[in-house]
Amino acid sequence: MIKIAPSILSADFARLGEEVEDVRAAGAEYLHFDVMDGLFVPNISFGVPVLGSLRKSSDMFMDVHLMIDRPVRYVETFCDAGADLVNVHIESDTAENISRALELIRGKGKRCGVTLKPGTSAEAVLPWLPMADLVLVMTVEPGFGGQSFMYDQLDKIRQIRRYIGELNPACELEVDGGISAETAPLAIEAGANVLVAGSAVFGKTNRAAAIAALRGEI
Ligand code: DX5
Ligand code: ZN
Repeated sequence: MIKIAPSILSADFARLGEEVEDVRAAGAEYLHFDVMDGLFVPNISFGVPVLGSLRKSSDMFMDVHLMIDRPVRYVETFCDAGADLVNVHIESDTAENISRALELIRGKGKRCGVTLKPGTSAEAVLPWLPMADLVLVMTVEPGFGGQSFMYDQLDKIRQIRRYIGELNPACELEVDGGISAETAPLAIEAGANVLVAGSAVFGKTNRAAAIAALRGEI
């Protein structure tokens, strides 16, 4: 089953609670949080207080994408604030600290994900694949919503789907960046089962139709 994860980066922050309720009612499975620190990526978004507030008002599955330097420092705080799954970029710290971050997330009883920037090879995920609940493949350079899908990432998605089949079949494969009704079928065909979408959901007035279009239902 394909899961849709609207990214609140493209939502109207002045009406955030209503925006979240709207995509929940429209059938989205996950809610995607793009946390940026202005260091790991050249942009600053939002952090723990926003997650904590939405956790109090929504029972959606909260998928947190940390685009921050040395995430091991903060993963437990995001778990305590209500994350259901926390993704860390494998480029954001030493291998030892990435492993430690995943252990800390698991220690909080939450799911853990590892994320790859476009320039990172499929093989780079292998040390963490056995313990990951999800692999997130970026199909744009992280930092901003509304960018164009990078078609050269499709081979990497296929390769990681093969690794998942061999090493950890329960692991989910999520894609993030430039997902639209045109690019979603390509990502799904390559093996993705969770689609992050910012502008393709929050940029549309009819969110149920937007989500159905990403699933290929209309
Ligand atoms: C980029 C973020 C994405 C982004 C997706 O750094 O990780 O989640 O918000 O936005 P769209 O779907 O508009 O490309
Ligand atoms: Zn994201």
